[in-house]
Amino acid sequence: MNLHELARHTAQEFAKAYGRPPRWLAAAPGRVNVIGEHTDYNDGFVLPMAIERYTVIAADRSAAAAPLIHLRSTSPGLDAKLPAREKSGDLDSGGVAIDLRQPLKPWPKGSWVNYPAGVLAGFLARGTDPGPFDALIHSTVPLGGGLSSSAALEVATATLLEAITGQKLDPVEKALLCQKAEHEYAGMPCGIMDQFISVLGQADHLLLLDCRSRKPELVPMTDPSVAILITNTNVKHELTGGGYAQRRAQCETAAKILGVPSLRNATADALERAKPKLEEVVYRRARHVIGEIERTVHAAAGVRAANWPTVGQLMYASHRSLREDYEVSCAELDAVVDIAQSIGPGGGVIGCRMTGGGFGGCTVALVETTAVESISRKIAADYKGRTGIEATMFVSRPAGGATVLKP
Ligand code: GLA
Repeated sequence: MNLHELARHTAQEFAKAYGRPPRWLAAAPGRVNVIGEHTDYNDGFVLPMAIERYTVIAADRSAAAAPLIHLRSTSPGLDAKLPAREKSGDLDSGGVAIDLRQPLKPWPKGSWVNYPAGVLAGFLARGTDPGPFDALIHSTVPLGGGLSSSAALEVATATLLEAITGQKLDPVEKALLCQKAEHEYAGMPCGIMDQFISVLGQADHLLLLDCRSRKPELVPMTDPSVAILITNTNVKHELTGGGYAQRRAQCETAAKILGVPSLRNATADALERAKPKLEEVVYRRARHVIGEIERTVHAAAGVRAANWPTVGQLMYASHRSLREDYEVSCAELDAVVDIAQSIGPGGGVIGCRMTGGGFGGCTVALVETTAVESISRKIAADYKGRTGIEATMFVSRPAGGATVLKP
């Protein structure tokens, strides 16, 4: 489903649920990170792109007398995550009601309602009140697959609230408000990459983001001879985010011992000199981050120059470092990267790595466009053979960021 079809579908679902057409339609994309993993919360560089998978929200002013915001979802995963006790009595087929007379607070951990509720809290905190409305959410971003389904939901909510209130936020402020929702409502101490790319993505461009200055730089990627192939391993080993928070803390420890505000300010030489003072695991975490920041800047230059073999090698190096030093890969991600690497340049694979936070989720591969079919077949078959699991695969061009659509 392209964005246009998805928007039409969501509008139809809204009409089915609420008995009238929506007045607003807001969409925000998921993302894949080409390179620059676990660098954003170290003030480093990231190089993501928005993908042609979106979360769309259709909405209209509420017809009810009470000041309630009604949220429904027709995305199976979003409904399944909703504990029964959260379901509001006045919504017969599921969904939730947020009562604007009550102070907002987080839903139980793990509920998807935390994403829209956290963004709403951010708008209310800055004095921007959308008033009561009815909404229906539909998403084609795979849930929990490392493609930022949560950022897509946050940014789609923020885009909808901008449309309802007529108050457009500055894009950086909007991304930060959504990040805060994730920290305070979803309890995930994420960096800023996912929300930034969902807000600022541009068709046919990667986004080189300096997470220290927050300065975004668009990197054109229009060479039709290469494609980005995303493979979902369909496994998720860690749901709580504990491993993520632990990595973050280890990076902070390393920076403290090195005497720098963040690992962005550290060099490989300084790290070697400080090695005796660092716990071995903390040393390896820092080695990943410092190397990855450098790789990301080189990869962006490689994309600009259409130097694909260099970009591919940097992607493999990134994966090795994430597997060995950062320890956020898993057997299934390693299997896909290994299969891709064995297909090699002869079979059209230029580079491959895990993408996103890790512990499952997706890989991103840079491949020759003409070989997409044969590569997909080979990866799917070999992955099934090695793990017994069906992978899901798709190609995406770099897509545009969040947008308001005509209902
Ligand atoms: C998750 C976080 C991002 C980033 C990546 C790892 O996706 O939400 O902020 O830290 O992991 O690069």
